[in-house]
Amino acid sequence: MPDVMRADLWHQMADAAGLVNADGTIGETIYGQMTKLAAQIGAVNLGQGAPGTEPPAALIDAAAQAMREGFNQYAPGQGFPALLDAVAKQRRRDFGQEVRPEQVLYTCGATEGLTAAILALLPRGGSLLTFEPFYDSYPAAVAAAGGELRTVPIMPTADGGFAPDWTSFDEAVTGAATPPSIILINTPHNPTGFMFSPEDLARIGEAAAAVDAWVLTDEVYEQLVLDGGTHVPPAVAIADPSRVVTVSSAGKSWNATGWKVGWVIAEPEVREAIQTVKQFLTFTASGPMQVGLGRMLSEDPSFVDENRKSLRERAEMLVPACRSVPGAIASTPAAGYFTVMDFSALTDLDAFELNDLLAHRYSLVGIPVPALCRPGSAAHEAYRTSIRYSFCKSAADVDRGAQLFRVLAAELRTNPEALRSAAVAR
Ligand SMILES: Cc1ncc(COP(=O)(O)O)c(C=O)c1O
Repeated sequence: MPDVMRADLWHQMADAAGLVNADGTIGETIYGQMTKLAAQIGAVNLGQGAPGTEPPAALIDAAAQAMREGFNQYAPGQGFPALLDAVAKQRRRDFGQEVRPEQVLYTCGATEGLTAAILALLPRGGSLLTFEPFYDSYPAAVAAAGGELRTVPIMPTADGGFAPDWTSFDEAVTGAATPPSIILINTPHNPTGFMFSPEDLARIGEAAAAVDAWVLTDEVYEQLVLDGGTHVPPAVAIADPSRVVTVSSAGKSWNATGWKVGWVIAEPEVREAIQTVKQFLTFTASGPMQVGLGRMLSEDPSFVDENRKSLRERAEMLVPACRSVPGAIASTPAAGYFTVMDFSALTDLDAFELNDLLAHRYSLVGIPVPALCRPGSAAHEAYRTSIRYSFCKSAADVDRGAQLFRVLAAELRTNPEALRSAAVAR
């Protein structure tokens, strides 16, 4: 057999995403690892951000109807017009973003949209700047494009919120000897729920214009604003929307992460460049789902309101229970699926060791936040003992998770050192 390392791009991508073990073997993503661990020990899986609730029956019916109508062969490369029109309409209706269907490209989830955009727009040797912690596909896509990933931390603030470190942002963009070619913004942000304000976005747009960078967005949590605020797409707040490439998907808004229906929105010639790459990754996918979702997006978008309400209720079940743990700090999620819990006052363990301990001892499995950071970075240090817990699971699972946090809280009240070290606690 030829040597699999003869070409090593795949290895570089895994390495960039932190998946290469000390012995050179490839590890599983943290999401896969934690899902397996939860199943093995019968723990509540508050790790992976996959909803524990179903898409609306009407959406499933609409996709089934599209199958019966014969939308079963390759879709057009750009996507079915029904979806492209619906996305343009939805952006205008929900966010005031003016979009023409010729700007929209169907992608196999936001992940493919982001990777195709990075491959198309990042020059070899160029850099992409994003905010940290970050979704794990970003570094792998940047490695595939032969570029360099740079990051600016989103830090916990004294009032229990989060804020980007704007000083390092300025240094990394307008102050950099070689400024980034792409600035990638995830808003609402996973895992902190931080939402970039219109002023933040305008500032990023000005910096991008000063160094002639693209602004690439990841807005998969766009419909899941929980605190009464509103999601502002970067393309709305940035003075020159032609430099913005918007990426989003239906997975989180419609509880249909397995459908992998996503989209990219860009000026037509930019959309075409990204489509040129995308067509050699998957060509097309999810034909009947595109049509079904297109119909729902334009005709009956009421589900996303219900979904947001239900998610808010589940957050209200989980977060107070997390807060009942004496000495821990649990963030109030402004948006998205997660609360970030900082255990630094309670333990000498790092987030990986602590997560393992909490899993085996209290049946609680989350995602250690440093897994979403670059080793050695300021964010990696700031989140050293932080774990992300998801409340997008079924109400029964979230309720069980909440009860388990209360058990932990009760134990810590009698023994405040219960989590101090693995030796004491196990
Ligand atoms: C920030 C972020 N971006 C993108 C994705 C993936 O989106 P999709 O399933 O549409 O590829 C996720 C999924 O968890 C995410 O958290």
